Amino acid sequence: MASAQPKIKSKVRCLDGEVGEIVHVIADPISLEISHIVVRANGTQRQVPASAIAAVRDDSVELLCNAAQIAGYPEHKPDDFLTSKQVEIPHLENKVHVEPGDLLVPFPVLEKSCPRRNFFAGFIHVIGALIALPLAWPVLRFITKPMYAPYDNHWIKIGNVSKIKTEDVGVQYIFKKAFTDSVLQREEDKNHWVIKATPEVLKKIYKHGDISFTDEKGEVIWVNKQTVPYVAFAGKCPHLGCGYKWRSHKTLGQVFLCPCHLSIYDNTGKVLDGPAPRPLDVLPIKVSATGDIEIIDVEYKAGKSELVRIA
Ligand code: FES
Repeated sequence: MASAQPKIKSKVRCLDGEVGEIVHVIADPISLEISHIVVRANGTQRQVPASAIAAVRDDSVELLCNAAQIAGYPEHKPDDFLTSKQVEIPHLENKVHVEPGDLLVPFPVLEKSCPRRNFFAGFIHVIGALIALPLAWPVLRFITKPMYAPYDNHWIKIGNVSKIKTEDVGVQYIFKKAFTDSVLQREEDKNHWVIKATPEVLKKIYKHGDISFTDEKGEVIWVNKQTVPYVAFAGKCPHLGCGYKWRSHKTLGQVFLCPCHLSIYDNTGKVLDGPAPRPLDVLPIKVSATGDIEIIDVEYKAGKSELVRIA
């Protein structure tokens, strides 16, 4: 290579004409010599070795190759280099006279890929995770509990049938449900609807016979008998889980109406209108001799036409 140094933005000429310009200069960090120039030609950047330079002029560099041969040089990969601003290499910029940001040195191999360093970094992460696990475990357990907890099949008292004054009319029962967890103890306000059904309405609700309820193993935990007139509907709309109300509709009469997307159900739970994919969900119910109502707070996945129990 000639003793003059290539400059950034110099034109690059091959034996058969101009091909582009210099966009970077690459230096060898050991010898402090220019090892390559990066030539922008035809929309790509090619690393041309200094040995291919025939002459360096004031405003151009002449190469020993043809224009077509430029494409044979390796494409420049910026990630494989650091700028001379990013590394401290003594005397480099005294020796190679280009703007600091345009002078590149190869990314040190040890920094780019060091199996031993990677091993220790991974090792430290594993140790950190082992130390943190006992601290994080109660929180993880709390967050993931719904994924592995067995269904809650205990009976909850929600009120007394004395609240129901008229047959076939929806009556809301609001109650508090306690949740016990290894981390938190909390209570949630819940509500379900109960009707005292006349034989005609009861017949529609139980058109397939008694209704069975199962646990996570598929074993029957309770059967609602069609001879019992009290029926409990889960308080969440089967569409997307909103709370619905017992409302008067100008053409349909008294109905259950969900305000979220206007699903409408009759007093048997049947869908009369709206996007609901299934009837209201019937819950296990039992009524004591004194009229106390108990239910199991079974919950099914919203948005499904079939019953998929989730709690
Ligand atoms: S949640 Fe009730 S209609 Fe959408």
